[in-house]
Amino acid sequence: MNNEKIVAIIAAAGKGERMGCGTNKLFLEVVGRPVVALTIDAFEGCPLVDEIILVVNDKDAFSFYDLIDTEGYTKVEKIVSGGKTRQESVLLGIREAGKCSKVVIHDGARPLVTPEQIENVINAAHDTGAACLAVPAVDTIKTGDKGFFTGTLDRNKLWLVQTPQVFDRGIILEAYDKGDGAETDDASLVEKLGTRVAIVQGSYENIKITTQVDIMIAEAIINQRMEW
Ligand code: CTP
Ligand code: MG
Repeated sequence: MNNEKIVAIIAAAGKGERMGCGTNKLFLEVVGRPVVALTIDAFEGCPLVDEIILVVNDKDAFSFYDLIDTEGYTKVEKIVSGGKTRQESVLLGIREAGKCSKVVIHDGARPLVTPEQIENVINAAHDTGAACLAVPAVDTIKTGDKGFFTGTLDRNKLWLVQTPQVFDRGIILEAYDKGDGAETDDASLVEKLGTRVAIVQGSYENIKITTQVDIMIAEAIINQRMEW
């Protein structure tokens, strides 16, 4: 077994409730391609990624198998059944990865990530053991309580966190082992271990498809990319 291998875990087991379309948002089409196919394309196109594990919900498992067949992907090694929360799904994927050097955790709902960005995060994690794609906050962010603002955060220190997030396998397994389930992303789990997570500046284009408006934005971004 190749212990140096790098495995991407694509979390695709959500219900997409905020999209409110009644079907899995990851199969909605953007420029004629399912969202999740665009996401997998980026990982297939990144030479540093050896294997892909797709974590899916049981309800849509057949559609995912069908997609993998028709697209002829070469790196998708396993399709794994997900859990009730994103964290559970990611952990199930990491466990299936077996022995490897690094895991690259990514939201299936971020189809606009590029192979170059994935590569940048992996390279940063080679130095530190943990790295994450993020962009500087553009809005002013305030705290609030009972209808009134209670403070303003220093925007110069704020980052909007994206995926991929890349970790040495040992680090992320220990982080999941010690986490209490309250963390909202994998980097926070790792930070709680006291491990420093390197920030890799990404792009505002790497949006997460959450509501209908994101489909329109993604469509516009891809059309623009195709014109270049
Ligand atoms: N995800 C997952 N397992 C879960 C929940 C979410 O693998 N139990 C995945 C989603 O498929 C998505 C990513 O985690 O690719 C980010 O989650 P989010 O955008 O919140 O997607 P959903 O949970 O599907 O959407 P919603 O919260 O609106 O229901
Ligand atoms: Mg969710």
